[in-house]
Amino acid sequence: MKPLTIAVLAGTTRVQRESIKAAKYVAEYGRQLEGVEIIFVDPVDFNFPGDGNDPEGKDPRYSEITEKADAFFIITPEYNHSFPGSLKRMLDSELQTYNHKPVALAGASNGNWGGVRAVEALVPAIRETGLVVLSWDIYFPRVQDIFDESGVIQDEYRERYNKNLGKIYDELIWMARALGR
Ligand SMILES: Cc1cc2nc3c(=O)[nH]c(=O)nc-3n(C[C@H](O)[C@H](O)[C@H](O)COP(=O)(O)O)c2cc1C
Repeated sequence: MKPLTIAVLAGTTRVQRESIKAAKYVAEYGRQLEGVEIIFVDPVDFNFPGDGNDPEGKDPRYSEITEKADAFFIITPEYNHSFPGSLKRMLDSELQTYNHKPVALAGASNGNWGGVRAVEALVPAIRETGLVVLSWDIYFPRVQDIFDESGVIQDEYRERYNKNLGKIYDELIWMARALGR
């Protein structure tokens, strides 16, 4: 079977961001799956001048990744009950390269809601891109407690998160194969 490429997108450029730990954990988990190639996309590493998806507003490296990707996994923190502008800017820079591909969503916050409002705000925007949103999400409430300083998941959370993340990856991979190009 053809290997699948999954682009894992971190949702913010904030220097002191905690959600990057959740994004890296999601990417690392995916790297252990057979037949899956993970491309980690950190918005800090890209440059999207201006707004929109005109050629001069794209980052060609991101265009190439989205073209190659069979599926996406987005990890967003919650900012003012929504998702960060840098994630929106990145998503807005492409259109055709998203079409008919599945996406899994994860939320993160420092409180008890886990970024659920950010994910709910993301769904209608994502739908407009042509990406197909899974019905299952994963959440990281009190994200600062789930990972240690270096970003390793704490023992007490590992089994539960690995189990839930495994289910979401199964679904994402199933969907990517079903929608396969
Ligand atoms: C501009 C801004 C707005 C925020 N708004 C919310 C919010 O509406 N709800 C919430 O639960 N947390 C909010 N937070 C806190 C985040 O949940 C917290 O920073 C968490 O660690 C995830 O974001 P991070 O990856 O930037 O650290 C906000 C943080 C920032 C920087």
